[in-house]
Amino acid sequence: MKATANGLEGVVAAETALSDVRGDEGVLVIAGADVEALGESASFEAATARLFTAAGLATTEAQVKERLAAARVRVARRLSAPVAANGMDALRAALATLSETDTELETAFELLAATSVATAQWYRRARGEPVLAPDPSLAHAADLHRMMTGAHDPLAARGLERYLVTVCDHGMNASTFAARVVASTGSDAVSAVVAAIGALKGPLHGGAPGPVLDMLDAIGTPERAEAWIDGEIAAGRRIMGMGHRVYKTRDPRAAVLEAATKALGKDSPRLTLARAVEGVARKALKAKYPDRSLDVNVEFYTAVLLDAVGIDRAAFSPMFACGRTAGWLAHVAEQRRTGRLIRPASTYVGAEAGCP
Ligand code: ACO
Repeated sequence: MKATANGLEGVVAAETALSDVRGDEGVLVIAGADVEALGESASFEAATARLFTAAGLATTEAQVKERLAAARVRVARRLSAPVAANGMDALRAALATLSETDTELETAFELLAATSVATAQWYRRARGEPVLAPDPSLAHAADLHRMMTGAHDPLAARGLERYLVTVCDHGMNASTFAARVVASTGSDAVSAVVAAIGALKGPLHGGAPGPVLDMLDAIGTPERAEAWIDGEIAAGRRIMGMGHRVYKTRDPRAAVLEAATKALGKDSPRLTLARAVEGVARKALKAKYPDRSLDVNVEFYTAVLLDAVGIDRAAFSPMFACGRTAGWLAHVAEQRRTGRLIRPASTYVGAEAGCP
């Protein structure tokens, strides 16, 4: 009997040209660029063009800008995100109403546009605010920020853009794997993205940043961090925003998002608090698990950055989907070109045939 790879840890399920997560070194390369360089200077359109092109959907930054803007306007007429209590439920329901278009690339632009448009529709409806139509003259991140907050704030929009770029792809994470499994059966890109949204929703994956902000609120001041964290660990609860399946170091995206928060230039007591809590949590987890490397992950500073650009914590997971959809779509395209049906095996541990 073969050993069971519980959680598929360490199992290599695909070859990809999209991103390389080097967990021992704390390095992330996205389609040939370090995440630090992309997060510092790339537009969301440039990051998307890089991913799509690497996956065989050749395009340029200028084409993405034009066609993604047009797609936002088109899908806004067709979509209507429900006022669900959970934004991921609304996103999943709204995107499920779409169908593939004539070409793979156009479908990709529509799905990428739809994630942002549906998130903003849900967010504003849930807050009792009027839904804002897309403005195709704006870059994608600036338009998303405006559709969410109603504000024209280039600095905050750039902060959001740095977030979207930083999280646009990340190896064979659970939601990307879900998208690739669906694509591997020959199913459509809409179904693959809807499946990925379902996987991203969980607190062990994309559902962590809202709880990170709840944690920072509950701690309140740096002096209270140690007692609070120790109490959580003693109670057997997980510290949100800490630990990662692949990284055995500090997640490199944390530094990018921390720097993006700092670049907003505001006096941020929350950033100071977050840094203090990170240090305390790392130390406490090291004491409890001396053989593990439980360090800060991307979700920790996601919470601080998205809060600082004026987005409510209820929308943190949908915002993650807005960035990661670029990666999901690239993986769907790559899976179609290079992959096989994904169909692992299982070890049967049930009753033998004939047992009552
Ligand atoms: N706080 C406390 N204990 C932890 C934490 C944490 N943040 N992370 C792992 N552990 C402990 C587990 O309780 C477990 O202990 P046990 O062996 O005594 O039961 C041990 O470390 C191993 O945990 P696993 O869940 O098996 O390890 P895995 O590799 O699956 O963990 C994960 C990765 C799910 C991210 C985990 O670290 C975690 O739950 N973190 C908190 C949630 C979070 O931040 N999620 C976002 C991840 S980043 C992303 O997906 C974008």
